[in-house]
Amino acid sequence: MRASSEPAGEAPDLVISAVHKRFQGAGDEQVTALDGVDLAIAPGTMVSVIGSNGAGKSTMLSVVAGNVLPDRGRVLVRGEDVTGAPSWRRVRKISRVRQNPQDNMVSMLTIEENFALALAGKRGRFRMRTPRRGTVREMAAEALRPLGMGLENRLSAVSGTLSGGQRQAIAVAMASLGSPALMLLDEHVAALDPNSAARVNEATERIVREQKITTLMVTHDMGHALHLADRLVMMHAGKIVLDLRDGALTDVTPQHLQERFAALSGGTLSDSALLSVPGGTQWEAGIDG
Ligand SMILES: Nc1ncnc2c1ncn2[C@@H]1O[C@H](COP(=O)(O)OP(=O)(O)OP(=O)(O)O)[C@@H](O)[C@H]1O
Ligand SMILES: [Mg+2]
Repeated sequence: MRASSEPAGEAPDLVISAVHKRFQGAGDEQVTALDGVDLAIAPGTMVSVIGSNGAGKSTMLSVVAGNVLPDRGRVLVRGEDVTGAPSWRRVRKISRVRQNPQDNMVSMLTIEENFALALAGKRGRFRMRTPRRGTVREMAAEALRPLGMGLENRLSAVSGTLSGGQRQAIAVAMASLGSPALMLLDEHVAALDPNSAARVNEATERIVREQKITTLMVTHDMGHALHLADRLVMMHAGKIVLDLRDGALTDVTPQHLQERFAALSGGTLSDSALLSVPGGTQWEAGIDG
């Protein structure tokens, strides 16, 4: 689509070009998850990705991370063609945080041990030499301090004993290690209660902004998508149907997004902020605007 073509100026951190992906569904049925996706993201941009269930958001992130290989099209990270590269080859450049806390940390290991694993992963699959213990502690404490949750003083705590919010915040901190080219967040606060979600969102914003990490964040919370985004991409049926940035994002409200989505797809966009506890999330102020 024209609207999602390459931005002028700085070389993009990510280019997705004419990417198609079909999956084998039940029986003979083929499911088109991505139907010609083009997207180029300039360095340091925070992109919110929204859309209906099954729109292809997670598949797009998986294609970038290398967990799913596209049928057609190309993926470039900082100019390097990684289209066919397995995910472990991309770990040093791309970090991903998943929705469920248990998928992001090893529950039986301590915070420090999880950091040691993450750091070893960043050093490459075949370089088995792990960082020294003192170095891991220092790096973990340094990465955790910006969260403002005191977790830097609890490095020996077993991860499984921490709350979901604490684990997701740690996962974001771990994902920021080693200055990745890209951070991929796939509904990373969706499994949390509204208060924890708000704290993890704040921590995420602080880390991503301070380190200027180019980020794609999938969310069903329209208010939060708008609050955080430099750019907002809406997907439907495997395509990018709306791409807003700069001036085009000013004064856009969740209500506007609903209307645009209805006009483009004929459907309704679920908004998790509207479905959460009475009082909604901290971003609720924008919902009626
Ligand atoms: N491994 C798979 N095998 C078969 N079909 C798949 C697979 N992964 C995704 N799909 C299908 O591809 C389509 C896009 O799925 P995807 O998970 O990318 O959607 P999504 O936008 O992330 O949705 P949600 O908001 O529900 O997370 C869906 O129809 C889904 O059922
Ligand atoms: Mg998904």
